[in-house]
Amino acid sequence: METYLYLTSVVGVYIGIGVFVVGMAWRIYQWSTTPKSPVRLGLFPKPATSTGRGLKMLKDTFVAPHSARIEPVMWGFAFAFHVAALAALIGHGRLVVEYTPLVRLLGGDGMSTFAAWSGGTAGIVMTVAVLFWIARRTYGPFKQLSVPEDYFLLFLLLGIIVMGNHMRFLGHVPVETYREWFQSLLVFRPVMPAEIANSNVGWSLGTHMLFVNVFLVYFPFSKLVHTIGAFSANLVRSE
Ligand code: HEM
Repeated sequence: METYLYLTSVVGVYIGIGVFVVGMAWRIYQWSTTPKSPVRLGLFPKPATSTGRGLKMLKDTFVAPHSARIEPVMWGFAFAFHVAALAALIGHGRLVVEYTPLVRLLGGDGMSTFAAWSGGTAGIVMTVAVLFWIARRTYGPFKQLSVPEDYFLLFLLLGIIVMGNHMRFLGHVPVETYREWFQSLLVFRPVMPAEIANSNVGWSLGTHMLFVNVFLVYFPFSKLVHTIGAFSANLVRSE
């Protein structure tokens, strides 16, 4: 167990984050050095002012009304997934630093209850959304349009989320212990608390991190870069 955790949750995290940062820098360099299209690619109706363009870009990126019109059910699941992913991301921030004002407001127990409910809800919503996407690509017309990468990414996400849910619903390791591990990585003096290794969630943390690392390594080279590319792509739409 110690070796598995060391490989996946110490060495693997450094490799994952390292490849992600270098890969994204390379991507952004590529985007910024690609010659601009001489043809205007904007679609009507186009806002007249640059503020209008900026606001339209934000709306197209965060609300995606064109997707809502074309495939409303898919849009519903996608919207719910992204809101839940944002909530989980904010929750993961506690691995770096405790949200002390919120703890003062809710009390220690109140904060744990809030984290259990919000993290648990986010995990369930994300699971349902990914299962919907897998079903959508497995049955019906989208099967013909799907390539192996689509399934790979969806199963990778499912693996990350299910392992996270296992820790959230069946684990008893307090966030302070996870924080001790994660902060130690950030200051390059890694420790893996024995409490994690000896708990019932040692394997699930290791596997969560194994999948997260693959996700980070793969991210800059996959269609997931839309997370960042969507902003500029949507800006071009109103040029
Ligand atoms: C460096 C990256 C990450 C680290 C260190 C990490 C670590 C953790 C830990 C320690 C937990 C258990 C929290 C607890 O029970 O108190 C957890 C839960 C979870 N993780 Fe991650 N995780 C990472 C990335 C991700 C990613 C990329 C996703 C999804 C795409 C994800 C999805 C989840 C979910 C859904 C849960 C359960 C719900 C929750 O507690 O928020 N994690 N993660």
